[in-house]
Amino acid sequence: MKSIQLGTSDLTVSNISLGCMRMGELSKSAAANVIHNALELGINFFDHADIYAKGKSEEIFAEAIEMNPQVREKLVLQTKTGIRKGFFDFSKEHIVDSVENSLKRLNTEYIDVLLLHRPDTLVEPEEVAEAFSLLKESGKVRQFGVSNHNPMQIELLKKYVEQDLIVNQLQFSIMHTGMIDSGLLVNMKHENGVDRDGAILDYSRLHDMTIQAWSPFQYGFFEGVFVDNPKFPELNKKLQEIGEKYHLSNTAVAIAWILRHPAKIQPVVGTMNPERLKEIAIASEVTITREEWYQIYLAAGNMLP
Ligand SMILES: NC(=O)c1ccc[n+]([C@@H]2O[C@H](COP(=O)([O-])OP(=O)(O)OC[C@H]3O[C@@H](n4cnc5c(N)ncnc54)[C@H](OP(=O)(O)O)[C@@H]3O)[C@@H](O)[C@H]2O)c1
Repeated sequence: MKSIQLGTSDLTVSNISLGCMRMGELSKSAAANVIHNALELGINFFDHADIYAKGKSEEIFAEAIEMNPQVREKLVLQTKTGIRKGFFDFSKEHIVDSVENSLKRLNTEYIDVLLLHRPDTLVEPEEVAEAFSLLKESGKVRQFGVSNHNPMQIELLKKYVEQDLIVNQLQFSIMHTGMIDSGLLVNMKHENGVDRDGAILDYSRLHDMTIQAWSPFQYGFFEGVFVDNPKFPELNKKLQEIGEKYHLSNTAVAIAWILRHPAKIQPVVGTMNPERLKEIAIASEVTITREEWYQIYLAAGNMLP
């Protein structure tokens, strides 16, 4: 398993991470199986959020791995805050409370990376800054970042927040390529040329923020998995053709495609199936060619000018 440096931090993490959003549905032994399998494959980075399964995902994770200080040292744990039932909340009080609750559920003294989950239009960045400084100084959170944020929203936070923002977690997959399309179709009268993300890809590279790709196998907003889906025959034919060359499954090629981007995007895979994770992990070390990357992009129904 290859590693990357996370943003400007000194954290070295596996270039593929495991998302734990779906872990709350598992039994303790099934969760233990998933986590130990991930660690054996060299995956040391685990993505959580306070809201996943209403906190159950964090809880079952800690129980399954029988968290203690020795176990904790081997893990890099990220969690998120800011989504509440029916609204978003970046108030100082909520950020601090939510971290305290995540620490309890994860049975740990510290979070490696805390992300603001989704932009809160009522954000008062001064409050975020106070919350982050409090959490940093108490040793409860080591690094900070955001999720689903555009460059101007990040700039607004950065005016007040003292710590580096090292991560931006965004939806990104072969079938969800807005941040790439707008860069390829600059200045064109084509729907895909519309910049919906404020050039977030270039911004992240300029500022050494790691982009994490959530839902790397989904199309739409949780509409389903595109891999081996008869709705996408041309794409799957291309995935298979390239997979045969590298001895990868279609699923693994979808990850190799994300990893090929020089922005060093870290996919956050959500499978709770140890066999599937093994399949995916092989992609960590595979570098597809530039031509193959574009062939997959086109097979997904995109166009080049
Ligand atoms: N920041 C955000 O706003 C945000 C939003 C959503 C998610 N996330 C993060 O991203 C992580 C991944 O999200 P996700 O679970 O939606 O992403 P995903 O990895 O694209 O999807 C995984 C799901 O697809 C199923 N699946 C079926 N066929 C598959 C195949 N051939 N290959 C891979 N998976 C297949 C998996 O089932 P099996 O378990 O049976 O393999 C699993 O239920 C989450 O755990 C969370 O950490 C973040």
